[in-house]
Amino acid sequence: VPKPPLTHYRIDDKTFELLYPKAVIQERVTELAAILNQRFESKNEGRGPILMPVLTGALMFFGELVPLLHFGYEIAPIKISSYGSGMISGGLPAIPESHIPVGGRDIIILEDIVDSGNTAIALHAKLREQNCASVYFASLLFKPHAFKGTIRPDWAGFEIGDAFVIGFGLDYAERGRHLRGIYQLVAQPA
Ligand code: IMP
Repeated sequence: VPKPPLTHYRIDDKTFELLYPKAVIQERVTELAAILNQRFESKNEGRGPILMPVLTGALMFFGELVPLLHFGYEIAPIKISSYGSGMISGGLPAIPESHIPVGGRDIIILEDIVDSGNTAIALHAKLREQNCASVYFASLLFKPHAFKGTIRPDWAGFEIGDAFVIGFGLDYAERGRHLRGIYQLVAQPA
């Protein structure tokens, strides 16, 4: 018997409330998969695109998405973090080399969330510098009001407000990733 989703989750003195339950996330990921299938099925030859999930936050999104894809692809996860342990986005993060050479390839970056947009700028610049054929960018979540970047996601699962979110791979100081839904921080009285 499936358990009903938790409505709230606490980490230390912070309370997070349910924003999207797992069923709603699954439905949206299915729609995103259909869009990607339409785009890449017709070019289903050669080695296909390189899927580049950004670790660690995008793992659950990635795991939900890939079984729904109907085209050939290769996988090159990339580890980036710009947040450290807090809730404030830092500057431009350093981007490591992909273990699969990206020259001449189509890349699909898979992010958990686009916030300031700094990570996207740094990742895009690094991939372009290595002469990949094209860079597509899908993010499960997008915070349009916090966005100060230049590289918008081509596809976003949900546009959300500025509140910090956890769950479905997203963390607060490494906690909360395991939650099946997405939860947002409840503002505390001053
Ligand atoms: P950006 O570079 O500011 O766009 O932030 C990108 C990264 O910051 C994401 O990949 C996340 O790891 C992290 N991040 C941004 N907003 C949140 C949030 O609300 N919850 C958890 N992590 C976040």
